[in-house]
Amino acid sequence: MRGATVFLALLLCLHGTWAQGEKEENRKKEVQFEIQDAKATHDQSSSQTNISPEIWAELKELRDMAIEQMVELRNSKILKARMSSCENEVKELKRENAVLTCFLFILPSIADLLARVTASENKNTVLEARMSSSENEVEELKRENAERPKVAFSVGLTDAGEVGPFNTDITLKFIKVFTNIGQAYNPTTGIFTAPVKGYYYIRFNGWEARPSQTIRITLYHNDKIITTCFDNKDVYNLTVSNAFVLQLEKGDVVYMVLNSGYGIYDSLHNRTTFSGFLLFAV
Ligand SMILES: *[C@@H]1O[C@H](CO)[C@@H](O)[C@H](O)[C@H]1NC(C)=O
Ligand SMILES: *[C@@H]1O[C@H](CO)[C@@H](O)[C@H](O)[C@H]1NC(C)=O
Repeated sequence: MRGATVFLALLLCLHGTWAQGEKEENRKKEVQFEIQDAKATHDQSSSQTNISPEIWAELKELRDMAIEQMVELRNSKILKARMSSCENEVKELKRENAVLTCFLFILPSIADLLARVTASENKNTVLEARMSSSENEVEELKRENAERPKVAFSVGLTDAGEVGPFNTDITLKFIKVFTNIGQAYNPTTGIFTAPVKGYYYIRFNGWEARPSQTIRITLYHNDKIITTCFDNKDVYNLTVSNAFVLQLEKGDVVYMVLNSGYGIYDSLHNRTTFSGFLLFAV
């Protein structure tokens, strides 16, 4: 009985040591070593106490079972720990999978967005280029406009009434200046001089109020007649007029001539006039 007590105490001791997680094989060896010690003690004492070999065999069997169970217990603890770790890994993987699924789900949207951004950037580049080109054009037009001469005149003959007849052609000096932008018309000579090559709109109006006095005036471009207008009806208040677009070289002149033997009339009513402006330079 003393030997059995020692053995149980030994088993308890072993259980505590195993719980600390030392290597199973080493422990088995230790246990066998201790058992041999206990057996030796028993052999010594068996001569005195005389325990039967059957009891020893049973004890040995019990010991083996206990060892086996402890090993199983330990294994199951390890398995539990590994299971728990596996579960955590599975959870982690699930989470990662969810994130991945989410990413895959929104990937087409991202691609679409990127495509749109790129398209929009391209559009912007095109627009910027067009804008820049437009700005250049605007600058060019501004420059052209600033450089473009401004020419416009509108003049009336006189407030004095009767002019002519004379026994020679005379250039009509329109002395009432309504407008003379660019000063291309000279009221002293009655001559308009083109400051630049271009197309000019020119018009005139002649009036005669005297009874039995006919009217006849001529528009000249340099020394070339553009038109001669006349009205010789034997009544009061005659009017003649005409208009042209003329291509003038720079320095070309335009003026009105009262033909020899004819009269013209102007008053505060401003009915005999001469006007023109630069349509566009060329
Ligand atoms: C001619 O015009 C004047 C106004 O300038 C007018 O008083 C006169 O009656 C007109 N003469 C005729 C014959 O129409
Ligand atoms: C004729 O022109 C002058 C100068 O511009 C103006 O003051 C006057 O009122 C005009 N006469 C008439 C009858 O419109």
